[in-house]
Amino acid sequence: MADLQLRNVDACVFDAYGTLFDFNSAAIAARDELGDDWQRLSELWRLKQLQYTWLRGLAQHHADFWQVTGDALDFALATLKIERPGLRERLMQLYLELKTYPEVPAMLQTLKARGFKLAILSNGSPSMLEAVVKNSALESVFDGVFSVEAVGVYKPHPSVYALAAKSLNLEPARICFLSSNGWDAFSAKAFGFQTLWCNRFGQAPERIPATPDGEILDLSELPGLLTQ
Ligand code: LAC
Repeated sequence: MADLQLRNVDACVFDAYGTLFDFNSAAIAARDELGDDWQRLSELWRLKQLQYTWLRGLAQHHADFWQVTGDALDFALATLKIERPGLRERLMQLYLELKTYPEVPAMLQTLKARGFKLAILSNGSPSMLEAVVKNSALESVFDGVFSVEAVGVYKPHPSVYALAAKSLNLEPARICFLSSNGWDAFSAKAFGFQTLWCNRFGQAPERIPATPDGEILDLSELPGLLTQ
């Protein structure tokens, strides 16, 4: 996207899972037990995790992301008929230690040095987010780590996106929001953020309201696209 420039940006707000942190890294780390099933397990786990956030939102039965992530893992293990003592606990622990995508730490340092405020806005519970941020030694980079638990409903409810703007004390239009999840990027744009879809997984565009301002392949492109 050679001619894409986002102007008047004061802060970058990132989705966590799939955008900064590689959710596949949990199943990959347990490949000694999962073998060739690691990918199917990881895909189903993620798919079901997101479905449960939406189902719980519609049904008004909120539970935090730790519960939802464990429930989704149980579903995925049962579907694939994987039964190994201790594996569930191991995978949940690994979810607290997810690796960042390779370009993430340097990209964040570059943006911070240029004076952008940086934050996470995620479905993750406060303790889950604290754990992954700490594990990647990124605590000092972020001005805020905002969890949906503050509003009690999952993305893409507008009150989640409003939480980031309110917490940073910025107009939504002064915020650049980044997500690898198309539905999250499209919904954040509909809310009023400037938005880039980090389409790591080569997904087709969503058919829901609003279209992100641009699409990038990974976050290394971000610093070159921003103007304060
Ligand atoms: C999050 C999920 C949507 O971090 O990836 O909010």
